[in-house]
Amino acid sequence: MALVFHSNSDSAEAWLAALGKHLPDLEVRVWPEAGDRAEIDYALVAHPPRGMLKSFPNLKAIFSLWAGIDHFSSDPELPAGIPIVRMVEPGLTRGMTEYVLLNVLFHHRRMLEYLAQEKEKVWKPLDTPLAAERKVGVMGLGALGTDAARVLAALGFDVAGWSRNQKSVPDVTTFHGAEGLEPFLQHCEILVCLLPLTSETRGILNRRTLGLLPEGAAVINAARGELLVDDDLFHAFGTGRVAGASLDVFGYEPLVPEHPFWEHPKILVTPHCAAVTRPDTGAQAVAENIRRLEGGGQLAHVVDLDRGY
Ligand code: NDP
Ligand code: OXD
Repeated sequence: MALVFHSNSDSAEAWLAALGKHLPDLEVRVWPEAGDRAEIDYALVAHPPRGMLKSFPNLKAIFSLWAGIDHFSSDPELPAGIPIVRMVEPGLTRGMTEYVLLNVLFHHRRMLEYLAQEKEKVWKPLDTPLAAERKVGVMGLGALGTDAARVLAALGFDVAGWSRNQKSVPDVTTFHGAEGLEPFLQHCEILVCLLPLTSETRGILNRRTLGLLPEGAAVINAARGELLVDDDLFHAFGTGRVAGASLDVFGYEPLVPEHPFWEHPKILVTPHCAAVTRPDTGAQAVAENIRRLEGGGQLAHVVDLDRGY
């Protein structure tokens, strides 16, 4: 059994060690040293070069190192009929929950205003409600959104969630579908976006939807930059509908130095670092899935390319 690994980062050594630990029978070849391509059963890739995947005639599955696979679905050279498995692993999930907690608390405790006050050496305590009096909404109740929503609820926040299909999450008020979007947004004093980028979600954070948030809301986008219409965020700052934002993802990355987000006093920019796949737990997830398939079972977390996630 052989797997080809490709990543743009220098993580190959850690992945080789972790895959060796969790699936000792697997031979791992690091791209471009793929050897006889007909021998490759699996690919584990982040952003594979165009045409790379279709050069393996016997692939059984493509594992994404990333949770988001929007870049795969837009590749016209993707081999047809090979299942793509998105990354779902506890290290990535917990990393995202930490990012969400950090940023929800940041806006909940009015840190943007304190940072501005600190610059001016202003000593002025501001009123802050307790978590139970703060309405937080998580857009996308998948692997990441569900964990973040649960932990926010456990901290005492008044949490709502929105998904495509009806969902039930303990201590979270859930909404779904187009008809659930408006009441959901009205709940979001702090909105956390953890949706995948699809043809349905592209630009979903726009003038209309941002306008449905409570006055002075905060927006946290840790999913994909193209979910947010940048100019509409500026418009929402202008009307006061949105008072602050934490942005980890951008339409074009890295964010160019001249982009107005960098120096905007109401925006906290981070460099697409909200959560990363951890080699040990990530390799374990891949190994379990390969074992399942090799044992005659079904792969978990296969992407539905028609749905886009
Ligand atoms: P999942 O596929 O597990 O969950 C996606 C969720 O979004 C589901 O609840 C789904 O609804 C919901 N959804 C999808 N389309 C719609 C729609 N049209 N309307 C309403 N709800 C919709 O994804 P993950 O939780 O694993 O990851 C989410 C995204 O986070 C990734 O796609 C990626 O872009 C981003 N990400 C960012 C990282 C970073 O470092 N910034 C790191 C990792 C991921 P339903 O449950 O009904 O199917
Ligand atoms: C992502 C990831 O999808 O880092 O952004 O997994």
